[in-house]
Amino acid sequence: MGKLFSKQKNNGIWNRILSDDSTRLRLKYDAYYHIFDDQTGTRVTKDGKEYVMLSSNDYLGLSQHPKIKEAGIKALQKWGSSTTGARLANGGRIFHRALEEDLADFLGMEACHVFSAGYLACASAITGFVDRNDLVCADKNLHSSLWSGIKLSGAKCERFAHNHPEHLREILSHEDPKTNKALVIEGIYSMEGHIARLPELLEVAKEFGAFLILDDAHGIGVLGDHGKGTANHFGLTDQIDVICGSFSKSFSGMGGFVCASKDAIDYMRSHSKQTIFSAALSPVSTACAHAALGIIRSEPEHRKKLEANLSRYRKLLDELNLDTWNSESPAVPIVLGKKEKVYYFWKALLEKGVYAIISVAPGVPPGKDLIRTAISAAHTEEDFDLIEEAFRYAVTKI
Ligand SMILES: Cc1ncc(COP(=O)(O)O)c(C=O)c1O
Repeated sequence: MGKLFSKQKNNGIWNRILSDDSTRLRLKYDAYYHIFDDQTGTRVTKDGKEYVMLSSNDYLGLSQHPKIKEAGIKALQKWGSSTTGARLANGGRIFHRALEEDLADFLGMEACHVFSAGYLACASAITGFVDRNDLVCADKNLHSSLWSGIKLSGAKCERFAHNHPEHLREILSHEDPKTNKALVIEGIYSMEGHIARLPELLEVAKEFGAFLILDDAHGIGVLGDHGKGTANHFGLTDQIDVICGSFSKSFSGMGGFVCASKDAIDYMRSHSKQTIFSAALSPVSTACAHAALGIIRSEPEHRKKLEANLSRYRKLLDELNLDTWNSESPAVPIVLGKKEKVYYFWKALLEKGVYAIISVAPGVPPGKDLIRTAISAAHTEEDFDLIEEAFRYAVTKI
């Protein structure tokens, strides 16, 4: 790449690329972008060494489910690899509508639109409805897809303290009552494992007439009757304006969705650029997500296994006196507070054959540097024996 004209002319973009500290540190510590060369169930292999995967969002352990594989293969054979177009144009197929109808019905919403990524779906859940004259009140710990949506909407944004209805109320009480307001929250916060204080937040939303957008990427499949998610868990589905999420967690697939009233979905289809200008969800991804939905509805054993696995894991973490930030879900952070401690703990887990993820400030609040772990229904007793041994070793290293 020596002939790049921009580089020879000292374009500042190249200076930035070549002198970036975050990239230098990331490459030095080699904690991210790992590539596994094989996988069987919860075991992954890298450079000839096997690890128990302890950070995947495959909460229900469905990624190898035979019904999902079969559905994906059939869809590929019948429909090919892609519809090569946006839904607005040539990309819509009967299988999109079938999934949308079933998912809306499952979640207790009127209508649904599916997207080729959860990130796109969750950004669209904001850009599809909010515009630059509106005010967005956002939980401080939202996922990046929602921040992108907020930014792209051009709306004014106020952040309130994480999962803190009283702070939200205080912010809203200073705002012009005539401004349109939207409240953006998650059902389960993926890094912290916290469940939204939905009843109290909804009370505030009602008081100020706010439009409520709930990203339930991590709640669906895990909470509520048959895994219908956080809104269902609290019996409040009929009071939520928009529920969005991803198929890459409990559905063990790819893609995402926005569910709302029919009017709202029709409006989003006219206004969200991410909905209008991005190719439709692929035949394989649609079929896999649809098969996963069927399994979530009809095979409660996966949730039961997840609960049993989670209680075994929690018992171990309690015994070792590890701080899990009061996680209430299968997403369980191990808060160690300092980058160095996180790094040594993580290295020790790797040494003993357990793969987890590091998350440090600014990705998490200062003092909350952590190892992000997540439990799956697919974890076996043998996995837990290994996890237990690795954790007992790792605590001696910090
Ligand atoms: C809360 C939340 N919303 C949206 C997304 C985006 O989903 P995807 O990774 O499937 O694009 C994620 C994924 O990390 C998430 O955690």
